[in-house]
Order: sequence, then C-alpha cells, then structure tokens
Amino acid sequence: MDIRPCIKYVGVNDHEIDLFEGQYIVPNGMAYNSYVIIDQKIAVMDTVDACFIDRWLDNIESVLDGRTPDYLVVQHMEPDHSSGIQAFADRYPEAQIVSNAKAFPMMQAFFGEDYASRRILAADGVTLSLGERTLAFVTAPMVHWPEVILTYIPEEKLLFSADAFGKFGALDVEEEWDCEARRYYIGIVGKYGAQVQAVLKKAAGLDIECICPLHGPVLTGDGITNALTKYQIWSTYAVEDKGVTIAYASIYGHTAAAAIELANTLEETGVTVEMFDLARDDMAEAVECAFRYDRLVLAASTYNNDVFPFMRTFIDHLTARNFQSRTVAFIENGSWAPAAQKVMRGMLENSKNLTYVNNNVTIKSALNDDSSAALAALAQELMAE
Ligand code: FEO
Repeated sequence: MDIRPCIKYVGVNDHEIDLFEGQYIVPNGMAYNSYVIIDQKIAVMDTVDACFIDRWLDNIESVLDGRTPDYLVVQHMEPDHSSGIQAFADRYPEAQIVSNAKAFPMMQAFFGEDYASRRILAADGVTLSLGERTLAFVTAPMVHWPEVILTYIPEEKLLFSADAFGKFGALDVEEEWDCEARRYYIGIVGKYGAQVQAVLKKAAGLDIECICPLHGPVLTGDGITNALTKYQIWSTYAVEDKGVTIAYASIYGHTAAAAIELANTLEETGVTVEMFDLARDDMAEAVECAFRYDRLVLAASTYNNDVFPFMRTFIDHLTARNFQSRTVAFIENGSWAPAAQKVMRGMLENSKNLTYVNNNVTIKSALNDDSSAALAALAQELMAE
C-alpha cells in the first residue's frame, strides 16, 4: 500500500490477539502501522508488536529495492510499536535510531541497549532532512506515554501521529471509524485530555492533508475533519450525543430487571439508551458510552455493605479518566441494609461538574409497586433533562 509514491505502508494486521494491552477485546483485530519513507535517505517509522517482527522486516525488505534504511524513527516506546527495535538495529547496523531523549532509557530498560553510538535526538524544533523531504519533530508527552513524538513532513503536508487518531480494528476489516476510535481513545488516552489539547494546538499550526497513525486507517479529507472534531470533544470531556447510558451490576437479576424497566420506559419516548450488564458486557464499551452521552444511570446491588464489585470497577474506570460534566442517577438494591448508592456517590465525589437527579431509586430485594413508581419518576426526570 502506497500512502504517497515515496511513502510505503509496512505494518501488519493482527487477528490472533485476544486482548489488546492485556485488557481490551478487539473483535476486528488490531493493526500495528509502520511506514517507510523513501528519499535520498530512507526512514522507517516505528516497528510493530513482538509477534510480527519477522513479517514486518520482510515488508520493509520488499519496498527497499535493494537499498538499506538510514533511520528508524521511534515515536513511541509502548511494546506494540517498539518491539522490533532490537531486531531492526541488528539487521541494519549502519542505521541510526531517531527518538526523543526520554525514549532511550526505555530502550535500555526493554532491550539492555540505549544505542548511544547511533542515536539522533528528536525534540520540538528538530528537523532531519531525507533529501527532498524533511522530518520535523513535535513532542506529544502523555499521548500516550511521556516520550511520544509526532513527525511532520511539510513537503507532503503529512503527519505521522503516533497513537493519536488511532483506533481498534485491523485494516482489512471495513468498519465505521468513530465507534472503535472512541472506545480506543476513551480507554487508552481518556485520562490525558489536557495533553491531547496541547497536541491539537500544535497540530493547528500545521498544514495537514494526511494523517498516518500507528493504529487504524490513514486519514485524509473529511476523515481528518471528523477526527479533529471528535478529538476536540473527547479531550474536553464535552457531551458528544444526547442519550442515557444505563450500567448495571446485578446478582440475581432483580437490579437488572429495574434497569431494563427504566430502559424500556425511556426508549418508548424516543430517548437513546445504551444499557450494559457490567459483569457480562464489554466494560470498555460501557465506559465509552458513559463519556459519549449526557446522562448516566448506575444501578447496583449492595454487597458486603459496599457496592457489587463490577460496579466498583466501572466507577474506577470512569474516575481514572476524569469523568465529569454529566447528569448521574442511582438505582440501588439491598435486602436488609441498602448501601450501594452511598458508596457509588462517594466514589464520584471528586468528579467535577456532575449533576445528580432527585429521584434516585432504592429497591428492597425485588421491584414492587413503590419502587416501580419511583423508577417511573426517575424516567420522567431523565426525560426532562
Ligand atoms: Fe499503540 Fe500507546 O501504544
């Protein structure tokens, strides 16, 4: 695949992975993108996951036309992109390693080698000429590790964006960009909204016609406009769509029944509802929806005078990513001493700008006429939002 006549794709699709980053399901696999820029000098942009190093080296070889690379640019040291550094350095001993100063100690830690005799330091304002084209480096700390750099080629109006603007999913599967880009962003970069904002400000000063991320498709035209719009929303924790996320953690199904009754009432009036069983559904998608929509209902059983553990985990995921600026409602269940609502609310006490509804619901074991009426009142309040 040619990105430009001088820029070749040499990444790989991974359909063997069970969990990306050891935690995220990826039903459509994952892509580890890598690119080769062929000019008077040749630069390889990043490496791939450890399982695919031989295939990646073969891909590189297939576009070199007998030449050898001059540079390996390491934009990010997370192992899904850095695992091939040692193999590359061994195969091409004349090539130099180009990366941020913070990356070389990480190479020492991962590979026992910091390439001191063959390194080039990349930082803001540093450029590297390949001949007709220039690599201009831009630091992007915490998007999503501290050593991250982006690389801009002004002559091509092209930005290599590291993890930014990436998504879950291999490149040989057709799917909408937004959904898996959002789940990826909120899950992996969601905590670092301020840092993403800083990168967006740097990117605004560049004339960009093409974005080459480390995951997901190359973006051009409307794809760039859409990605920048979404990143502006996501990195400021703004509401993306009107709707209600209902997340429930139920032991014997009674709390689930309340969540379903509420969902049905809301949907009958045309409200968009996304509902998740936190014990069985993809937690990362539930987190994604909590950030996407403006209203969140947390429904949980009491357990050990605390909240049922799946809900505790879910709220931990939210607060770790700076959950804020949403309307929140609680449904709690408890057979003798309901405590879940107090625990859930306490877990959110440091979250900014949350609005709590008035009609929270307490169930004693199973729904009855009183708690069903309370659910109806909650539905009314949520519909009025
Ligand atoms: Fe795709 Fe942060 O690694």
